[in-house]
Amino acid sequence: MCGIVAFTGTNQAAAILLAGLTRLEHRGYDSAGIAVIYPDRPELQLTRQAGKVAKLAKAVVREKIVGTCGIGHTRWATHGVPSEANAHPHRDCSGKIAVAHNGIIENYARLKDELLRQGHQFSSQTDTEVVAHLVEHNYNKLAEAAAAANGGGDDIATGNATGAGSNDTGTSNANANATGAGSTARADLAEAVRITVSQLSGSFALAILHADHPDEIVVTRNDSPLVLGCFEGGAIAASGLPALLEYTRDIAYIEDRDLAVLHRDGQIDYYDPAGEPFTPSTYHVDWTLEQAEKGGYPDFMLKEICEQPRVIRDTIAGRFDEATRSLSFDELPLTDEELANIDRIVIVACGTSYHAGLIGKDLIESWARIPVEVEVASEFRYRNPIINSNTLVIAISQSGETADTLEAVRQARRAGAHVIALTNVLGSQITREAQTVLYIKANLEIAVAATKSFLAQVAMLTLLGLYLAQERSLLTGPQIQELYGEMSKLPLQLEHILADTSAIERAADSCVAAQTALFIGRGVGATTCYEGALKLKEISYLHAEAFSAGEIKHGPIALIDAEAATPVIVVATQSTTHDKTLANIEEVKARGASVIAVATEGDGRIAELADYVIYIPPIRECFSPITASVPLQLFARHIALARGCDVDQPRNLAKSVTVE
Ligand code: M6R
Repeated sequence: MCGIVAFTGTNQAAAILLAGLTRLEHRGYDSAGIAVIYPDRPELQLTRQAGKVAKLAKAVVREKIVGTCGIGHTRWATHGVPSEANAHPHRDCSGKIAVAHNGIIENYARLKDELLRQGHQFSSQTDTEVVAHLVEHNYNKLAEAAAAANGGGDDIATGNATGAGSNDTGTSNANANATGAGSTARADLAEAVRITVSQLSGSFALAILHADHPDEIVVTRNDSPLVLGCFEGGAIAASGLPALLEYTRDIAYIEDRDLAVLHRDGQIDYYDPAGEPFTPSTYHVDWTLEQAEKGGYPDFMLKEICEQPRVIRDTIAGRFDEATRSLSFDELPLTDEELANIDRIVIVACGTSYHAGLIGKDLIESWARIPVEVEVASEFRYRNPIINSNTLVIAISQSGETADTLEAVRQARRAGAHVIALTNVLGSQITREAQTVLYIKANLEIAVAATKSFLAQVAMLTLLGLYLAQERSLLTGPQIQELYGEMSKLPLQLEHILADTSAIERAADSCVAAQTALFIGRGVGATTCYEGALKLKEISYLHAEAFSAGEIKHGPIALIDAEAATPVIVVATQSTTHDKTLANIEEVKARGASVIAVATEGDGRIAELADYVIYIPPIRECFSPITASVPLQLFARHIALARGCDVDQPRNLAKSVTVE
């Protein structure tokens, strides 16, 4: 949530910041702003707008923002309504320091009280603003200390990041006034930020500018993502890779409370929390700028839905060896003995990733006969779950940043479990916290609603289930070969579904004015429904709920309103429980529902019962979530567009949830 971009170099900063913010807008989009240092004087130009980055871009042109060192922010509000005053960057009292922040400063109220007592004046309701004032406070103290050491006067404290003031972790012994005793002196900005960071609790990625330091930006992070890179034109840091891809694909990450100082010449200096310099690990990413563009599609969601045949093809490819008739998972370091000792699998995830986990549970249990529990990560972290060294924990997170999932990973590791992260983002936080990483091959996903990452997660869990069964000798080589062979048909089937979407659109048109929609299915069909309902509600704001079809008689059937012909979407593909599902269709029809069925081609019975039928190609039940999910994604998108919604950036949401 929230995207930050920082740039210093030889190019105009505003254009680079706006381009970066546009590419990070899926992280938050209720307000946006930039701060750039004037090229010819030590002052900041600040432009902020409530609304999207496009609105900010117009203001930047209007206000003729110039300069080559600046920071930018696109917001997902946590503290204070989306408004210009609450938009970032936030400034200190002197107006010389600007801060862009992603995360939550948990101790902001206490810090704010102290700073107010000292005379600092606040102009927003945000937690972030305390950081600007705290940096001001620490900076002034450093400047004063340096001035005193030099016998007073207009001095420059040039200590390095381990320099003066490193023992001061509170503001109570402050002796600088709010508007900056020492404001004519220059201190070490990185050191002031380092001290500030030691006073903060919570999650943050911060980019900090000081008008007296026109060639540098200090960035830091704790539990919030930050990626850095340099190129000929300068140095750049941002909350996510899309903002960097135009300039570099060689990137670095910093760990919690590390600091990096971006310099105009493209140099980046790195310091650990004690102020010691270090050289970070670097990564080369194979994502491209084209993946961050719509590429002729009207929206990212449709582009990403249409990429799914390729995603599934890439995920499946290379896992099966025809000669040995076996699947390989080289990423899994578990020995035969460790595999044999696994007595339980716990999957932790949120949202769509949680739904993928539910499908994974069904498949792993049925093939590998290992009990699997799937837990919502936000609950897991506050329970006392039974985890030990014989538990295999699979943490699923497309972004690799979800705060609750990360905390679940930490908790599982503390309990001695082996943790596998299933993620899409190279180098993301989860990859640095789990022992093993399985990368899905979804590539950059920008639409807030997860589509291709969900299919890739399901495909990967399917393969993992088969692999575990193989390793436990519960499926033979020929059986695996047969299943893998059928799985390999999926990309073509998806292409077939995408080639003609008219039946989906007809069914969707019938629901545009509905007040509520119910989704029902059985087995993996029910889980497919959970995800289908989530897609519909998050992008169209049409209330939708999913139920196991066998459960409707126990309550949900009361929601069917004959007068409104409540839409009931039924995943009724070929399965062992198909007849039962047909009976459920009869039940809801009898109560006046309008039934939309996702069914298998050739199923004539369903056409007699349902009002609308969306046919998909025949596939074994275990793989059907992959095919049946695609019409549900398109169904949700069509309704959302008909209701005038922005399918890529639905209200109130953000692509990754980096705060609790
Ligand atoms: O990045 P993650 O997979 O950890 O994100 C978890 C959820 O926030 C996410 O799946 C969310 O539910 C989707 N955007 C819904 O489409």
